[in-house]
Parts: sequence; C-alpha cells; structure tokens
Amino acid sequence: MSLSKFDRKHYTQGKTPIEYLANLTDILGGPEIYLKHDDLLGLAGGGNKTRKLEFLVADAQRQGADTLITCGAPQSNHCRLTLSAAKKEGMHAVLVLSETVPGSYREDAGGNNFLYKLLNPLDMIVVPGACDLNDTMHLHAKTLQAEGYKPYVIPMGGSNAIGCLGYIVCAEEIVEQANDLNIEFTHAITPTGSCGTHTGLLMGLRSLHVQTRVIGISVNYSRDKHVKRIAQLAQKVNNELFPERKIVIENDDIIVFDDYIGSGYSLPTEGMREAVHLLARCEAILLDPVYTGKAMAGLINLIRKGHFKKSDKVLFLHTGGSPALYHFADYLL
Ligand SMILES: Cc1ncc(COP(=O)(O)O)c(C=O)c1O
Repeated sequence: MSLSKFDRKHYTQGKTPIEYLANLTDILGGPEIYLKHDDLLGLAGGGNKTRKLEFLVADAQRQGADTLITCGAPQSNHCRLTLSAAKKEGMHAVLVLSETVPGSYREDAGGNNFLYKLLNPLDMIVVPGACDLNDTMHLHAKTLQAEGYKPYVIPMGGSNAIGCLGYIVCAEEIVEQANDLNIEFTHAITPTGSCGTHTGLLMGLRSLHVQTRVIGISVNYSRDKHVKRIAQLAQKVNNELFPERKIVIENDDIIVFDDYIGSGYSLPTEGMREAVHLLARCEAILLDPVYTGKAMAGLINLIRKGHFKKSDKVLFLHTGGSPALYHFADYLL
C-alpha cells in the first residue's frame, strides 16, 4: 500500500524498537511477549498520537491552517502531543478539556496538565463531560476565524480517516521488523479508546496480507460499541482515502475485550496497578495508568485464563502515556 500520495510530517527518527520481554515471559510462563516501543515516538513525551499527527498536521498545513484545536480528558496525551506538534511547527493550539469524570480537572494537577502549561497553548477551555466536544471545537473555531486565525479541528484522539494512516504506517514498520527478526507475531495487543490506533493497525496488517490477530483492550466503551466504531472508521478510511483499493475488514476480525475498564475511563483498577508495578519491576518499563496499564492488565489476565498457546508470539503495543503516571502517583504507590 503506497502512502506517498499523502502529505506527512516526520516527528520520529527511524523505527521504534521491538523489545523481547524475557522476564515477563518467564514470570507468566509464556507465550513469548514482545513490546513495540511507541512510547519512544517523537514530540514531547512520545506516544501513539505522534503517528496520527504526522498526517493530521500535514493536512492542516496543506489547508493553510495556523492553529490546531483538539480535545481530550484533563490528562490527555493526545492534547499534549497536539500542542507539542503545534509548537514544533510554529502554530498555535487550543485545547478543549472535557471533565469525563465530574470534577476531575484540577488547575494545579501535574502530569500532562503540567506539560500543557509548560508548552503554553493559545487557550485551554474546560467543559463538563456532557458537552458535545465537536460542537464546542467548531464553535471555538468560528470565534478564532473571526479574530483572524486559521483553525483546523482535530477530532477526539485524532481518530479520523487521516489519523488512521499513522497506524497503517506502524503496521508496515512492524511487518518489516518481524521479517528482520524472523518472527511471525500471532497476536498484537493495543489499548482501544477512540479506535484510530486499532483500526489503522488492523487495516495496515491486512493490506499486507499479514494475519496477526489484533486484540483491542477497551479503556472506555463496550465491546459492541468499539466493534461498530472500528468497522465504520475502516469504511471511512476506504471511502475517503483508498476508494480504488479498499482494505476489506470483516466484522469477526475486530476483536475487543471490554472486561478491563473497571468502574470507568481513567479510573484505577487493581489489575492496572498490578500491571504497572510488574512491568516497572521486572522489565523497567513505565506503563501509564489509563491506557497501557489497563491493556497490559488485559493481556496478563488473558494469559492466565489460557487464551494463548505457549508457542504464540504476542506483540504488545506500548502506546505511551507515562506522563500521566506522575498524576496518579498517590494511588500507585
Ligand atoms: C497512551 C495512549 N494509548 C492508547 C490510546 C488509545 O488510542 P486510540 O484513541 O487510537 O484508540 C490513547 C488515546 O488517547 C493514549 O493516549
């Protein structure tokens, strides 16, 4: 699949490494567990949104934009990375922060909130969780336009068709690395939130005829909701970006587990706490409490339940987010 027709920025030098987690594999008694370090992607603090932003920011600039508007939760990695990309490009950024958990925005919070302030957005707007974020962003875009700015709205999580291109690229990278390492990954595990990562990865692998099973661990919504969203997003990618060469995704190829959310998005669980501790202490890998901690909790639990064969080779996608660790320090220690 040639992606050369799409404008793209490059925020990372080379490929992110794939590391074999020998200690974790031993502790859990197999399957073989590998980790793709997308936490080491470029921009401030790295993480999966950097890949999406390479295409989204290029599209924004092609349209003549000078200001990026996006949204997320108070500890949003996506907001931090969008703001970071804006700074790199000499653009402005406006963040709309949604209190998905009522009362969760704290002016003096650390983690990503500290980094927003350090990076210095043009504006930061905190809205109640019930607020329609697309409406809010587009309304704000109109105000900015009236003031002479040229805004470009990036949806929640950067998960539109263009954003998905980032993980189509990642799939190509994984396939090249797997060939170099002479490994066939039987499964890939990713946290699934706004679905762009899962959709892009799945489409990228299938476009290369690689049958690695992509397992999404939901951090927010039910399995059914995610399956529907991923199918719709895949259709959008096909219709908007590859109308002449569609990448067919069957519904039963969309695998999501929704058993590891706990009482809600961003709220800690015992499984997450165990996973964050285990990975820090046996592999010196920092997971985050909202996404990768819960996804790893899912992987550990699926292994304990016998979901995998000992001979399987599982690739865990570390999508970043460790700045949020510092916000949750009290709970984690
Ligand atoms: C660290 C991290 N991992 C995973 C995700 C989920 O990715 P997606 O929104 O593409 O499903 C996010 C989304 O914000 C994230 O910040």
